[in-house]
Amino acid sequence: MENKTNESLPPTKRLRTMSSLLLSWYKDHARTLPWREDPGPYRVWISEIMLQQTRIEAVKPYFSRFMEAFPDVPTLALADEDRLLKLWEGLGYYNRARNLKKAAQVMTELHDGQLPPSYEELLKLPGIGTYTAGAIASIAFGIPVPAVDGNVLRVISRVLASLDDVGKPAVKKQMESLLKEIMPRDDAGAFNQGLMEIGETICVPNGPPRCPECPLSPICLARIHNSQASIPVKAPKKPRRVENRTVLLILSGTDIAIEKRPDTGLLASLYQFPNLEGHLNRQEIHDFLESLGASPERIEPAGEARHVFSHVEWHMTGYLARLKGKIPSTYLAVGQEELRRKYPIPNAFSAYIKLLNRQL
Ligand code: ADE
Repeated sequence: MENKTNESLPPTKRLRTMSSLLLSWYKDHARTLPWREDPGPYRVWISEIMLQQTRIEAVKPYFSRFMEAFPDVPTLALADEDRLLKLWEGLGYYNRARNLKKAAQVMTELHDGQLPPSYEELLKLPGIGTYTAGAIASIAFGIPVPAVDGNVLRVISRVLASLDDVGKPAVKKQMESLLKEIMPRDDAGAFNQGLMEIGETICVPNGPPRCPECPLSPICLARIHNSQASIPVKAPKKPRRVENRTVLLILSGTDIAIEKRPDTGLLASLYQFPNLEGHLNRQEIHDFLESLGASPERIEPAGEARHVFSHVEWHMTGYLARLKGKIPSTYLAVGQEELRRKYPIPNAFSAYIKLLNRQL
């Protein structure tokens, strides 16, 4: 019998063997997921965008709420932005939600309110890159194109014991063309999802891979060389910039002050508690509130919190300020129920939302 672990096997041969091991494993091990039960293009698209930032279990309730609110492309194209962002609240990367609406508008104009059944046309839509176009094209339309994300890069790098830096676009491109060459013509969706599934459940992103459970282990060069821990190779990221901020929970009776963020940049168009650059002390906050025409009655510390974004970290210190009179007109004064129901507030403020829930 041919020795399939043969270290000199060319990459395409190794990957073809991988493909048949993968497909028979996936038949028995595919998880039951809401968007798999009915893999229509719209459902696949929404689920793939949500899954780019969040674990499967966390995505499920977001997915069902989203499908209820926006069941198809035309409804999404007409979505009210605050409602859309409110539904996205907690998922992060809010531009992804905005791009969903933009893409739905393009589809309504150019594609009869449907996702186009073409990899190239999908790629032209806002927010759809090679991974998402590949996932939709293969899962929903059966088109044989790869869908390479971080999970797939890790699995394939290990199978081939590749020491290429997976953070480089050229390495991803090369992986895409290799996979395109060897993937099955008639089972592209299962092939791509099988690779993702192995990357999420066996060849995991954090911690050691569960090689004894892996169907690819007979042909995986990293396992054969015992080099799983050093593959994939990734150049270290630049350290994040740290920003100190002071967050103000300004209360008047049961009303709280919030404001809308600018419509560009970080957390664009979301709502937030007023916050200022730097770590201010009580006197500085008092002076700031007076400069807005407000009369603070009591100012007390509301704790510290941190939030990590992709390129910046906020180190926040909070204060709760009770006012004698009304909330200054620079801000929106909202009740707690309204805040919970209507205004999208980014996760960065979740520690202060929790504190408010105890206060109000
Ligand atoms: N992760 C992202 N998309 C996925 C999919 N379609 N199947 C399994 N895992 C995924």
